[in-house]
Amino acid sequence: MLISKKVALITGAARRIGAEIAIKLHGAGMCVVVHYHTSQQAAQQLCQRLNQQRPDSAWAVQADLSQTAHLALLVQQAVEKWGRLDVLVNNASRFYPTRFGKITEEQWQDLFDSNLKSVFFLSQAAAPLLTMNQGCIVNLTDIHGDRPLRDYSVYCLTKAGMLMLTKVLAKELGPLVRVNGVSPGAILWPEGSSELTEQARQHILEKIPLAATGAPTDIAKAVLFLVQDASYITGQVLAVDGGRLLSG
Ligand SMILES: NC(=O)c1ccc[n+]([C@@H]2O[C@H](COP(=O)([O-])OP(=O)(O)OC[C@H]3O[C@@H](n4cnc5c(N)ncnc54)[C@H](OP(=O)(O)O)[C@@H]3O)[C@@H](O)[C@H]2O)c1
Repeated sequence: MLISKKVALITGAARRIGAEIAIKLHGAGMCVVVHYHTSQQAAQQLCQRLNQQRPDSAWAVQADLSQTAHLALLVQQAVEKWGRLDVLVNNASRFYPTRFGKITEEQWQDLFDSNLKSVFFLSQAAAPLLTMNQGCIVNLTDIHGDRPLRDYSVYCLTKAGMLMLTKVLAKELGPLVRVNGVSPGAILWPEGSSELTEQARQHILEKIPLAATGAPTDIAKAVLFLVQDASYITGQVLAVDGGRLLSG
């Protein structure tokens, strides 16, 4: 099967890293389903741009991934357009601080629903279609699923869960579906993060052996590699972090 006949669903793909992944997979010839939650305008603009490059090759679909009941419908909508699904990229995520001692059950629920439960049930809903086409799943995890980040304990736990989920799904879905992950380091600073001062950013940069933040395209290239050129790789998570995991 040529990659140009394949269809990829990328969650949280209207903006930032998700959009770059959609652009990269589209550039490799795939049709892309651009999932969004609140960023409708950005999703539609991205699809318009991609459809100008290649007619009928990008489509935007809305869903709140924290609503488990919506996930099967999202898969159904993704398949309806081109009649198949080959790749699922679980990119959507919530990221905000939770100060230990003041963490509420609502915050726990919100982060786990959006970052982990949704990935599990979306993958389960997509699995029969991916199996049919010998497809693959790529999960966007985080180096902080491995190394704790102070004040982000719940987020770190969700991403640690995603690391195991990648391995679990690789076992459950083999031999016909490969499941891998990409674990970004510092790529794009979080939006509206007034608390991340220039000094804090400098501190992070000092811990990166390659001495710079990465670019969304670094992540997108790793995703494309795992989709296109990794036929004997499953259950692995590739850190794309400038070497950040090497530092204490
Ligand atoms: N940025 C980095 O440097 C970095 C570092 C380490 C790991 N990562 C990981 O890489 C991935 C992409 O990072 P990013 O910074 O580009 O992500 P982001 O901007 O924080 O979030 C991506 C998208 O997730 C969607 N989303 C959040 N909650 C949702 C929900 N309940 N239902 C549906 N969609 C939801 C949002 O879509 P809408 O805008 O449509 O609402 C958002 O645009 C994430 O998994 C992140 O954890 C990123």
